[in-house]
Amino acid sequence: MILVTGGAGYIGSHYVLYESARGSEVVILDNLVYGHREAASGVPLIEGDIGDRALLDRIFRDYPIDAVVHFAAYAYVGESVTDPSKYYQNNVAATLNLLDAMRDHGVLRFIFSSSCATYGNPQYVPLDEKHPQNPINPYGESKFICEKMLAAYDHAYGMRFASLRYFNAAGADPEGRIGESHDPETHLIPLVLQTAQGRREAISIFGTDYDTPDGTCIRDYIHILDLAQAHALALDRLRDGQPSGFYNLGTEHGYSVREVIRLCEEVTGLPIRAVEGPRRPGDPPRLVASAAKAKAELGWQPRYPDLRETIRTAWNWEQNRRF
Ligand SMILES: NC(=O)c1ccc[n+]([C@@H]2O[C@H](COP(=O)([O-])OP(=O)(O)OC[C@H]3O[C@@H](n4cnc5c(N)ncnc54)[C@H](O)[C@@H]3O)[C@@H](O)[C@H]2O)c1
Repeated sequence: MILVTGGAGYIGSHYVLYESARGSEVVILDNLVYGHREAASGVPLIEGDIGDRALLDRIFRDYPIDAVVHFAAYAYVGESVTDPSKYYQNNVAATLNLLDAMRDHGVLRFIFSSSCATYGNPQYVPLDEKHPQNPINPYGESKFICEKMLAAYDHAYGMRFASLRYFNAAGADPEGRIGESHDPETHLIPLVLQTAQGRREAISIFGTDYDTPDGTCIRDYIHILDLAQAHALALDRLRDGQPSGFYNLGTEHGYSVREVIRLCEEVTGLPIRAVEGPRRPGDPPRLVASAAKAKAELGWQPRYPDLRETIRTAWNWEQNRRF
């Protein structure tokens, strides 16, 4: 049985759906600070915090858990700059609490939601796993510190892990059962689609003078179900007794902000008003993954290489969302 922390959140809930569909038994632990009860339907949901050691002891005693897939974290980069304590407490200290509980209960398989934010400003693109890690904000640092903890716990306690460094997660369950619902929303595709719907006045473009073909930032948007597939494969690999590893997860294709807006207009058939503004501090011009290692070692085969398709699933959700 798999314990999924943060399983009522955006990425976690899609992973739970994917993992349940292949017959796995799953239990979710989420404090619902940002998650949605509706996103966890059909799977046992324990409402609680990964920082609560007594609760973790009960969970590891009561359920036959052999692996933890750890999505629970705070993920607002800007907020991590203004309130770093919140990020180190939740993303680092509470994760440490979880790892210690796992070690004490002999649960020694861990899949971790890491991020391309651990790399900081790219020295070259596409980024592979050997690219130096110099995070430039407390959010990225919190993920980087966790990676260091994982390497040390592997060495000292034999805890095997896969640290998955996602690029930009996007899209929704193609059947529309669940989708992205952050409050506040900061991710580009839902913001653009909500602008198309008239729920927002305009989409802001932060910076049009970057060294990219159209002057706007380029990102790598990876479909949520391709992320889910990678988690399942990474877990299979650990259960097979293979060693720990770090893996980038992205499509290996970059799209500029203007290209994303244009594709959203194409998919929705609606005009989308954009407002150009100055750069935001800390936005690298181009973040694109090399995912060769995940493909080679995990056997990962992304099913959504075309961003149009990813946007289509997100648009379906935005039009029919339940939460
Ligand atoms: N969305 C992205 O593009 C992206 C990119 C890279 C990495 N990540 C990482 O992926 C993970 C999931 O991201 P998401 O977009 O699904 O975020 P999300 O906010 O939708 O999901 C996180 C979930 O964790 C829960 N949670 C937070 N702290 C908790 C705690 N102490 N105890 C129990 N539950 C807690 C929240 O209630 C929420 O349901 C995060 O670790 C994030 O840092 C996300």
